[in-house]
Amino acid sequence: MSTDSELAALDARHHVHGQTDLRHHAEHGPTAMTVAGKGVWITTEDGRELIDGFSGLGCTSLGYDNARIADAAHAQLSTLPYAPTFYGRTHPTVAALAGRLVNLAPGEMSRAIFQCSGSEATDTLIKFLWARNTARGEPDRRVFISRWRGYYGNTVASVSLSGQPHMHAKFGLPLDGFMKTETPNYYLNHIDGETEEEFSQRMADDLERVILESGPDKIAAFAAEPMQSGGGAIKPPEGYWPRMQAVLREHGIHFHVDEVVCGFGRTGNRWGSETWGLEPDTVSCAKALTAGFFPMSALLFKEDLYEDLQANADEIGVLGHGFTYSGHPVGAAIAMETLDIYDEIDLVGHVRSVSEGFLSGCEALLDHPLVGDVRGVGLFCGIQLVDDKASRRLFDPALKVGQRVQDHAHDRGLYLRAIAPDRISFMPPLIINSEEIEEATRRLRGALDDTWKDLQS
Ligand SMILES: Cc1ncc(COP(=O)(O)O)c(C=O)c1O
Repeated sequence: MSTDSELAALDARHHVHGQTDLRHHAEHGPTAMTVAGKGVWITTEDGRELIDGFSGLGCTSLGYDNARIADAAHAQLSTLPYAPTFYGRTHPTVAALAGRLVNLAPGEMSRAIFQCSGSEATDTLIKFLWARNTARGEPDRRVFISRWRGYYGNTVASVSLSGQPHMHAKFGLPLDGFMKTETPNYYLNHIDGETEEEFSQRMADDLERVILESGPDKIAAFAAEPMQSGGGAIKPPEGYWPRMQAVLREHGIHFHVDEVVCGFGRTGNRWGSETWGLEPDTVSCAKALTAGFFPMSALLFKEDLYEDLQANADEIGVLGHGFTYSGHPVGAAIAMETLDIYDEIDLVGHVRSVSEGFLSGCEALLDHPLVGDVRGVGLFCGIQLVDDKASRRLFDPALKVGQRVQDHAHDRGLYLRAIAPDRISFMPPLIINSEEIEEATRRLRGALDDTWKDLQS
């Protein structure tokens, strides 16, 4: 086995990293080589121990060691390590998981299809709704509406649905027919004097504008995360979801809710849909479905969509869609064990019990000269850094203030993510305890102090 520095050199030379500054990586090598994890702590190759303040990528709900999940995976690997789900074939674990998930899901879901990633769940949604509309004699009903800064994945269609311009640039994307409405970032985007309710009405008006611009009969769906994650942990303002849903209902628009991050407890309920009273027509989930221990996602939907897909399959012979690893037995076994653990430890109850301390710890950072806004729910918080609090003026992007906080946090033993423009997304594993929250918040304040000193000099 090569030494760690040789491995870092191999990584810099041969391993291509997504969402990474490629030149910086090739020249300086990896930020850190993570070698182990326990609880909410991760260990890097230099022996440093960091608190994971971002749950890996929002997925490691149960932290980094879990003997039960490891045993469940081992048992499944030893019994049936792979089984296809094409051609009507199945295996016991995925059948049980499908039944369990549709019962847990928000709304009246009755069907589940599995993929390996959130992106594939989004692509499956897009294809299924296009196919459904063809079955219904509405082949032109193809437009998808989503929000700027929303994130639904990175495949060609899912990134078109996503509202992240830097993921479209240079790829010739988005595809046609993916329209955008405003992002509900009240703090940065409200007009002086505008209340949250007034701002929410403006957001709903913009949704209606986009619907009318496209024509309601051309719209396949509106898709949204209950709370935007990749957009920077943007908590919906007061009155936002009731107003948005009223517009959707008025124009008969299908509502897809992406629970990939919010699902399984992040917002203090099993689903973000529960936290904000959403009434989805379809739901996607991933990440905490397997606690991040295995790549697996699910798209959950109602019987009427299944019937439309069935009508197409009657004509063609099959549902012409699927992935080799759909409903993988090891993923399904891990998901079943994960859901058992969530129930047994009452994970949602735990999130609620530590959430107040977490949020008040974050809110206390408002006294820091760099922090303009703190908004969160459950164990999910966005912290906005600003150059001037009174005018909410952002920093010059060239100063990379968010990146500096992220780097100083790393040096102080806290892994966090900064999302442009200079917004810190703080979402630790859902099993984190109060002492660990306090320690993480202390380290974050230290990173803010370090950054402040940088900027002063
Ligand atoms: C809300 C949301 N949906 C979908 C995705 C895409 O999931 P994946 O990276 O597994 O393709 C992500 C990824 O972070 C996400 O945050």
